[in-house]
Amino acid sequence: MSLIIKGGTVVNADISKPADVYMENGIIKAIGENLEVPSGAEVIDASGQYVMPGGIDPHTHMQLPFMGTVASEDFYTGTAAGLAGGTTMIIDFVIPDPEQPLMDAYKTWRGWAEKSCADYSFHVAVTWWNEGVHKDMGTLVREEGVNSFKHFMAYKNAIMADDEIMYNSFSRAVELGAIVTAHAENGELVFQLQKKLLEMGMTGPEAHPLSRPPAAEGEAANRAIRLAEVIGVPLYLVHVSTKDGLDEIIRARLAGQRVFGEALAGHLLIDDSVYRHPDFATAAAHVMSPPFREKLHQDALWKGLQSGSLQTTATDHCCFCADQKAAGKDDFTLIPNGTAGVEDRLAVLWTHGVSTGRLTREEFVAVTSANTAKIFNIYPRKGRIAVGADADIVVWDPEAHKTISAKTHKQNIDFNIFEGMEVKGLPSHTISGGKLRYKDGELMIEKGDGNYIKRPAFQPMFSALDLAAKAKMPTPVKR
Ligand code: URP
Ligand code: ZN
Ligand code: ZN
Repeated sequence: MSLIIKGGTVVNADISKPADVYMENGIIKAIGENLEVPSGAEVIDASGQYVMPGGIDPHTHMQLPFMGTVASEDFYTGTAAGLAGGTTMIIDFVIPDPEQPLMDAYKTWRGWAEKSCADYSFHVAVTWWNEGVHKDMGTLVREEGVNSFKHFMAYKNAIMADDEIMYNSFSRAVELGAIVTAHAENGELVFQLQKKLLEMGMTGPEAHPLSRPPAAEGEAANRAIRLAEVIGVPLYLVHVSTKDGLDEIIRARLAGQRVFGEALAGHLLIDDSVYRHPDFATAAAHVMSPPFREKLHQDALWKGLQSGSLQTTATDHCCFCADQKAAGKDDFTLIPNGTAGVEDRLAVLWTHGVSTGRLTREEFVAVTSANTAKIFNIYPRKGRIAVGADADIVVWDPEAHKTISAKTHKQNIDFNIFEGMEVKGLPSHTISGGKLRYKDGELMIEKGDGNYIKRPAFQPMFSALDLAAKAKMPTPVKR
């Protein structure tokens, strides 16, 4: 199976140049101007278009069992919607119930994901702690290609990781050469504020952002960062939604700490007025955590991306339809948390990032694929157009345009948070594993086309504590 893209401009995170790209059996074999078309190769004409690494969405939740229901988008429909938007790989989350062995949950998610039609990988959440979790983390890193562990600092009485769990898990991650990630919100504070708001008679979605103030994110971001600093583990903060969280990242990075931050397309573009919409279904459709914020935070997040303080973009794609959101009609704390976006991320970021001059084309590639591939250790196999890399490519037509709508999107959800947004810049073709999977509105996919992508461990690191201990072992005072 061979394919050649002719006449486009290849855009990588560091350089752009006019070049043809030839691929065979899923791997890029040649890049250069005026490449000859090998016999039998399928030809894609990319004149006037950009040829970029396919998007990697590092934060999705396909068919997640959550808050008494299951996300409506499964691994097949979700990866298909991603391909339609130029995203060729997702990193989803295995989320064990407390007391559930990590390996059991991991095998369950691997089974669900077999129907994916684009490549996928998994972060694994640590939601509780015992010796079995310690052992399973080792198995996951050494045998299963998992190099990132997630910690939900919110969702008390469900999947919340407290400081003790985080201490144990962060310390184990250092030994294994894994990176830790965190959903940074102070879960106790959120829990107490939810109770208080309900007592005050605030039962609607407008109470959701009030129960999760920016300070709850700032505090948790700082706590995760400080734990990671002492333990000496690299940390990736998912869905940074506030200036408060961002400021903690900036401070830590200036101090030399290896801390990374992710921005969601939704947090960059939508503000908290959506929760005051008079229609319950519309307001509830926006309920996700952390919530959409006042505009000043969007400005800060854009600057974070522009300055490199935030390195990646994602969607936190987690779909619940109106009938599912209705579970919280009389109590906002029961509205399943989650919004969609895997299909729209690239177009929205191009339109509001590149076309506005906030990001260069190369920076767009950095924040939509290359940086994620680097942080999660699959670069340059993914996130780069290079000889030897996986042939996951989006051919990007900067002139194509559309109006985003739930009526026409491919995502399996009845609502689109970007409804009515005009976007200019869309994929004309998406190639995944060297095969053309999307062309001008049509998907050419089958269940199981995607592959599980192992992500190797980093060099196991000594923790800061170990190093300090080795350097100057304290001696007990003799009395
Ligand atoms: O509201 C959200 N984000 N739902 C999915 C779970 C999470 O916190 O990422
Ligand atoms: Zn989260
Ligand atoms: Zn999430």
